[in-house]
This record gives sequence, C-alpha cells and structure tokens, in this order.
Amino acid sequence: MADLDGIKVEKNYHLDREFSTHGDFHVKGAENLDWGMKKHLTNIFNPRSGNTVMFAFDHGYFMGSVSGLERLDLLVPRLIDHVDVLMATRGALRSSVRPDFRKGIALRVSSGSSMLDEDLSREIVAVDIEDAIRMNADCLAVQVFIGARGQLESIDNLSRVINAANRYSIPTLGVIAVGKDMERTDQYFKLSTRIVAELGAAIIKTYYCDNFEEVAAACPAPIVVAGGKKLPEKEALEMAWNSMRAGARGVDMGRNIFQSYHPVEMADAISKIVHEGFTACEAWDYFSDATKKT
Ligand code: R5P
Repeated sequence: MADLDGIKVEKNYHLDREFSTHGDFHVKGAENLDWGMKKHLTNIFNPRSGNTVMFAFDHGYFMGSVSGLERLDLLVPRLIDHVDVLMATRGALRSSVRPDFRKGIALRVSSGSSMLDEDLSREIVAVDIEDAIRMNADCLAVQVFIGARGQLESIDNLSRVINAANRYSIPTLGVIAVGKDMERTDQYFKLSTRIVAELGAAIIKTYYCDNFEEVAAACPAPIVVAGGKKLPEKEALEMAWNSMRAGARGVDMGRNIFQSYHPVEMADAISKIVHEGFTACEAWDYFSDATKKT
C-alpha cells in the first residue's frame, strides 16, 4: 500500500494553460485518434470554432411524448439547419426524420425503465453496433450513473459500447446522469466526468455547475453541457455562455430549445454563443430582435 505521508494534497488545474493536444486537430483530446474517429468527430464539432450545438430529443426513450416533442416529424425539420448534431433514438430518426440531412448523429444506445419506475439508474445497451453503423451514427450515447444504484451496470454498458464502437472508429458520448437525489457540485462532476473520460468516452455530456472551469480543465475529453429543465430563455443563454467561457466545447440541449415558443430563434441564439463568441447579452438581444419579427 502506498505510503500516505508526504502526499501532495492540494490540486492545481492550471486554468491559465490551454489543454495540450500535441497537434492541430480541433477536438480536445482527440489528436491521437485515427482517421475514422476524427472524421466522425468533425461531423460533430465544427472545425472552425471547435465547438458544437447538439439538439437532444431522445427523451422519449423513457419519458414518452414530452411537451414539445409530440410531433417529431414537424419539429425536427424546422431545427435541422440551425444545429450541428441531432441526438436521438433510432426509432425517432428512422420514423420521423428524412435521411438526407447533412448533420451529425448522436445515437442514443442505452435504455432503461420508463419514468414510471422509481429507480431510473438501471439501463441496458439497447442498440447493437451493427445497427448503429447502419444508422451512420457519428457517436453512440450511453447514460452513466456514477454514485447511483445502477453505477456498475452503467459502467459495464459504457465499456461494452466503447469496446464495440472503437472497432469501427465510432466515438462514444458518455452522458452523466443526475438523479433527483444526486448532487450537482463541481466535486461530483469532476469525479464523474473524469471516470467516464478515462474509460474511453471521446465526448462527455454533463451539467453546468459553480467552479465549472476546474471540471472542464480536469476532463481530457470535450464536455458538452446539458440543458436540463426549461429555463427562461435569458437564463438558458446565460448558462450556455457561462459554460463556454468556462471551457465547455458546446451544448447538448433539448427542452431549452424545443419547449421555447421560439425554438428556431433559440437554437440560433445558442449557436451565436457557441460558434461566434457572442456574450449572453448579445445572444439575448439577437433572440429578442429575431422573435419580434416572427
Ligand atoms: C439525458 O437523460 C438525455 O440525453 C436527455 O434526453 C437529454 O439530456 C435531455 O436534454 P435536456 O435536459 O436539455 O432536455
């Protein structure tokens, strides 16, 4: 057992230093991946900004038809040109989205109980690698429940998906789940994002929190920030801006886009922050002007 005397206990995240990629590939931590992985990651992360706007509408896999997602066939075509990636289940994509769109696909492959179950932390891998390849997925999304009852199963799911997807150069997106009883602190997100990155996920989805700079600095893979419950648009834009300036490489938002009365304008305003460096105020002004015209 290691001698605990003299261990360095203070932490230094070197916030003044950019992540060293040892090369010029635009995705954090991906310089040493192969051509196929880089091609998929380029379908997700814009090479000019290095960032991404992912539109999540995979809620139906456990919540059924939530408000705003009643008619995917009508909603998704309106938004495709305003985001970089569609994050969805195979059933939603195949049934309701034309296949000729030219955006990235984040395919939800883990699945579990419905929201009628009290413990949502137990999931399985519901989509096999061959079907993910048939869907032309650019990354495979797996929910991970660090600290919850389903922790070990979800780490098993994640590892199985990474092992299968790596054989075909498809990146895996680890989605950090936060149940109603779980904390949303930087300590928790540092722990969970780092575990998932070290298990081999090429992209991590998690929530914004205080001290997010340290969460992002300590995570060797790009973090995309989840939207969570619907907020007033101004607050959602502030969260996106705070996330980006603290080191996130994009957002993966659902309800804060599709539950807005102006989903297209909201997606555009978020995109201005993520790709063009707008501040929250500038994006809010943009959103306000755009919605006056509609
Ligand atoms: C997480 O459980 C799933 O990916 C959700 O469907 C997605 O994160 C929800 O997005 P939002 O919280 O932005 O509505």
